[in-house]
Amino acid sequence: MKILAIETSCDETAIALIDAKGGLKKPSFKILKNLVSSQIEIHRPFGGVVPNLAKREHLKNLPLLFDKIVKDQRSKIKDVSLIAVTAGPGLEPALWTGINFATDLYKKLRIKNKELRIIGASHLEGHLYSFFLNSKFNPPAGGLNSKSLFPAIALIISGGHTILIKMDSSVKYKKIGETCDDAVGEAFDKVARLLELPYPGGPEIEKLAKLGNPDAVNFPRPMINQKNYDFSFSGLKTSVLYYLRDNKDFKKEDVAASFQKAAFDVLIKKTLRAAEEFNVKSIFISGGVAANKTLQKKFRTIIKNKMPNIKFFAPSKKFCTDNATMIAAVGYINYLQGKKRKLVANGNLSL
Ligand code: KG4
Ligand code: ZN
Repeated sequence: MKILAIETSCDETAIALIDAKGGLKKPSFKILKNLVSSQIEIHRPFGGVVPNLAKREHLKNLPLLFDKIVKDQRSKIKDVSLIAVTAGPGLEPALWTGINFATDLYKKLRIKNKELRIIGASHLEGHLYSFFLNSKFNPPAGGLNSKSLFPAIALIISGGHTILIKMDSSVKYKKIGETCDDAVGEAFDKVARLLELPYPGGPEIEKLAKLGNPDAVNFPRPMINQKNYDFSFSGLKTSVLYYLRDNKDFKKEDVAASFQKAAFDVLIKKTLRAAEEFNVKSIFISGGVAANKTLQKKFRTIIKNKMPNIKFFAPSKKFCTDNATMIAAVGYINYLQGKKRKLVANGNLSL
């Protein structure tokens, strides 16, 4: 089944064309084209994403990316049987550009292809399913509903979300905790701004932290010992603010490394506690912050030492940050489930 997917929820305009097969038990995805046009340079002077600029850029980039796909994959476009487009969560003006573009395209392509369908997709389910796209594990050994993978704990860590999920199968899952205030990626972006690093802050902090001492400053680890699966990162960011105000001789590298360590300690501790409580077989992490190699390494090492029977999956970098391939995966899985999501932008769509 050929699927064309469109993602415009934030500051990346993305279109992908994939070939999906295998059904719900063993879905697998062949990526024919995965295009992402980043707007980072446009938003950088503002230190964050400006919704109206994002909308303007999506409107400009969508036809350009689609033309590229047509040029490259003309023969395959006419075989597309499903269009999937992100309906939320995200910036509503940005989401509408994708939905409108997808709807117009659907109307055009449907003239010759009466079987064509269109489906709205959740961006968060996209991150949740992005581990299926990892080239090394596509599909994860043994198939997706296999007894060797589930139950699992999934941690979505992005610029807008920090969510822990218990998965009984690829389609049966439940949110067990989330952030009460800032998302972890948002904390990285805000701390980066305090350190006068460019937007987006995550990759900059990761780079700088490699040169610093993670034990230089003992920043708080909010909610780490609470017996729930919720998070809080706004107090941690404020501690960094106070530290910078009260200490004039700090080394930026040390602050970056110590902040990163505090944030990751909380993420890892709570994820592993959930893994233990629910006796899971795998842990998946996804979203922009999951691209952080220091975090991946920490998870991998601690799981290997403490819970060697648990499998750990993190998507490759291009599938951690926003992309449309993950939206195509949601389209396929939702289509197989018979799940239909309205083509209406919903900025607060929850998992
Ligand atoms: O998933 P994503 O691309 O977009 C959202 O859905 O939000 O995540 C973007 C977030 C940003 O906050 C960015 O700073 C963070 O992910 N990020 C990172 C890294 N790469 C991106 N955070 C820490 N380390 C990284 N290497
Ligand atoms: Zn995202």
